[in-house]
Amino acid sequence: MNIAQIHETIDAIRAKVPVRPQIGIVLGSGLGEYADQFPSPTIIPYEDIPHFPQVTIVGHKGRLVFQEIEGLPVVVMQGRFHYYEGYSMEQLTFPIRVMGQLGIRRLILTNAAGGANLNFSPGDLMLITDHLNLMGMNPLRGPHDAEFGERFPDMTCVYHPEEREVFETVAQRLQIPLQKGVYAAFSGPSYETPAEIRMIRTLGADAVGMSTVPEAIVATQMGIRVSGVSCITNMAAGMPGAKLTHEDVMETANRVKHQFIALLNGVIQEFAKA
Ligand code: 6GU
Repeated sequence: MNIAQIHETIDAIRAKVPVRPQIGIVLGSGLGEYADQFPSPTIIPYEDIPHFPQVTIVGHKGRLVFQEIEGLPVVVMQGRFHYYEGYSMEQLTFPIRVMGQLGIRRLILTNAAGGANLNFSPGDLMLITDHLNLMGMNPLRGPHDAEFGERFPDMTCVYHPEEREVFETVAQRLQIPLQKGVYAAFSGPSYETPAEIRMIRTLGADAVGMSTVPEAIVATQMGIRVSGVSCITNMAAGMPGAKLTHEDVMETANRVKHQFIALLNGVIQEFAKA
């Protein structure tokens, strides 16, 4: 994976979609339907994009969807790549680098996550305020190319305060309850043990998942403003009411998708005003 490959990918995408997207969105497990309600999308399946990884997980589509929303060109990843699927960090963040080079200035990351905070319940949406990288790997490991940003990027404000404020304002206006918290990422694919959940609670985590952090790190290195929303699909192991099947995760994500769609649309509307 190198700059030349990214440029080939960019050329292939630009040949199909001349408009430069300004916002990127990554849709997590069970949240992919967001892009299904677009009125006039341009869709490129991942298999038609040179150098793009291919999707393996049930419940995930694999395509880039381009749509102008409120006058803002948006690119959506309908289907993301996970470390547990066996991709290298470089592979799974390749689409983020591509979206960055396509010109996005903002990136909205979404995921399904387990609740590790006693105040959370399945179905809650959580605005990510910060993360814990417990995946045992950093996506920036390896040769450094200055075209992508710094060797040692600052991670003080990954989830941009101004973006967070937009989410909070919109959630309030639409009366969508929005929790806030720290997202801890494990590599998966097994869910965590109760001891691991006790550990991350002690470390300050509120939610736990298997994605988002690599993408957030890469985007931050590229100078992209990142925001993140977790759908708390279930309580994590050892928490009261814990339920740990992929089916439960998908079912809860499906149940809150309308709120989730309303929140995203409201936020983009707000971004379009700026
Ligand atoms: Cl409990 N853990 C992880 N790692 N990912 C999840 C989850 C739990 N629930 C949904 N996604």
